[in-house]
Amino acid sequence: VEAFTASVDFDQVLAQQDIRGSIAHAHMLAEAGVLTSNEFEAIKSGLTRIGAQIEAGQFAWSVMLEDVHMNIEHALTESIGDIGKKLHTGRSRNDQVATDLRLFVRDAIDAIAAQLTRLQTGLLDLAEREAETIMPGFTHLQVAQPITFGHHLLAWFEQSQRDYGRLMDCRARLNESPLGAAALAGTTYPIDRAMTAAELDFVQPMANSLDAVSDRDFVIEFTSTASLLMQHYSRWSEELVLWTSSAFGFINLPDRFCTGSSIMPQKKNPDVPELIRGKAGRVFGHLTGLLTLMKGQPLAYNKDNQEDKEPVFDAISTVLNSTIALADMIPEIVPNVDRMRQAAGHGCPTATDLADYLVRREVPFRDAHEVVGRLVGMALEAEVDLAELGLEDMRGVSNVIEADVFEVLTLEGSIAARAHLGGTAPARVREAVATARAAMQAR
Ligand code: ARG
Repeated sequence: VEAFTASVDFDQVLAQQDIRGSIAHAHMLAEAGVLTSNEFEAIKSGLTRIGAQIEAGQFAWSVMLEDVHMNIEHALTESIGDIGKKLHTGRSRNDQVATDLRLFVRDAIDAIAAQLTRLQTGLLDLAEREAETIMPGFTHLQVAQPITFGHHLLAWFEQSQRDYGRLMDCRARLNESPLGAAALAGTTYPIDRAMTAAELDFVQPMANSLDAVSDRDFVIEFTSTASLLMQHYSRWSEELVLWTSSAFGFINLPDRFCTGSSIMPQKKNPDVPELIRGKAGRVFGHLTGLLTLMKGQPLAYNKDNQEDKEPVFDAISTVLNSTIALADMIPEIVPNVDRMRQAAGHGCPTATDLADYLVRREVPFRDAHEVVGRLVGMALEAEVDLAELGLEDMRGVSNVIEADVFEVLTLEGSIAARAHLGGTAPARVREAVATARAAMQAR
């Protein structure tokens, strides 16, 4: 039972948060007159010493002491004697672990947000550099219309902005202190919950003691946010994998993000994006696991809650490491401008532009669609692009077509014409980069 119920093997990563929480609790007990100030000072310096020992990897964890909380409290008493036994006055491991885990997830969000900011900065720099680089835009993975590479990267940026916002929403909602809820009903000591909340940088104490010890919404909300983030990373990774394939040849990734094959000497595999795509699955799995963990629990604390740790810790390290990898890799993407442009020229991508041209000459859109359909058929038959059809051939299908049609049939003409807000025109892409930079500055 001891081995089965112990959590110290995985919850020892909470040590620094546990020590912060304990120092705040002891400080409050001293202010409330429950501890003397000498007792508080002894507890504080004892805990600080233990924190340094753990940090240095010199702490001997014991499974017999079950979890991180009891290991540290036991070490404190070993170190400072009986005063150490007073630390747990007016507190339970239930509000203690709830506090530690909130602090831990909050710290994790801050670390992820910092890396995400670095990633976003890299995206914007690359988007600006590639504001004029033409590539095919796809629907159904078929060439649809020409776009700029910068515009494509800005779509990724918008996804990441929502992810950033969700991380901050999650942070704001979890930022209340459970401390003082004790086991479930509160405590008889004259505690000051506002003081411990403030000392731990929480906005305020949680309003209900039963909720405080049993709520794990924040763990689920974080993992849900992490899932959406990984889902985006996975989509980007899928595109990177496609683009590096020789069939596309749109980009090169530096060798350090790739590996060779043990049997095929010519291979350069995009391992980093592939692995990110694969790792998304484990985070989605953790989300399902956590929802299922909580769905049957009556109030208040249940030992089931200990099972929240491994999934959320793994979700945190997966998201953090994936974010670091992408932030390192994105600035080093080298586009193959010629290949992208060439690919954009296949499959009559300016057909919509031609239809719009006819509409400007009073042809109803549905009729224009049909005319262009016939011209596309001719181009495919002749194995040329629309822009390579002769004017007379085109006029044979519709006599409203004039020599100026070739201005709209070029790739440059096509992207430049989409100059409205959110469009792919290079000028708009540069403007969007500036707007995005300002939005990042303001947060
Ligand atoms: N290791 C436990 C957890 O992670 C700490 C809380 C234990 N509380 C209890 N009443 N057994 O949830």
